[in-house]
Amino acid sequence: MGLVCICGLALASFAFKNSQDAELEKSMKAGKEVYSAVCLACHMDKGQGIPGVFPPLAASDYLMADRERAVKNLIQGLKGEITVNGTKYNQVMPASGLDDQDIADVLNYVMNSFGNEAEKVLTPKEVAKIRAELK
Ligand code: HEC
Repeated sequence: MGLVCICGLALASFAFKNSQDAELEKSMKAGKEVYSAVCLACHMDKGQGIPGVFPPLAASDYLMADRERAVKNLIQGLKGEITVNGTKYNQVMPASGLDDQDIADVLNYVMNSFGNEAEKVLTPKEVAKIRAELK
């Protein structure tokens, strides 16, 4: 009986992980399109940025430290001094103008590409919630 129980649990968590993976894969695919259209011009094809001008998204400690802040920065834009991987930037990123779905997709893409790995899929619902709190 105990064993059946443990196996059931293992199976359930496996199924959960698989559905998360499928959701992430779909979102990242859409996010790659958004990235190419909107972000690539500044953050470059491998997320490497341009030293001193456009900060890297590749293995970015700043990006990975706070996903809520990342959502806010895409909604409102970002200016002022920030430090990314030990280098200071003091530039301006315009507000992206993207909707909740596109923001979730593009962040799922960058947070799981270029050497980054996020623990959890970001959903458009979460983005909507953060947007609502900004108003
Ligand atoms: C016009 C150029 C430009 C575009 C387009 C742009 N960014 Fe940025 N981005 C910047 C600049 C400049 C900064 C740093 C702002 C500062 O110094 O305060 C920045 C900062 C960031 C940061 C925080 C710092 C870091 O490197 O982790 C993230 C995350 C980010 N951008 C993601 C994106 C994403 C995703 C897109 C596309 C939806 C995008 N950016 C589009 C110029 C741009």
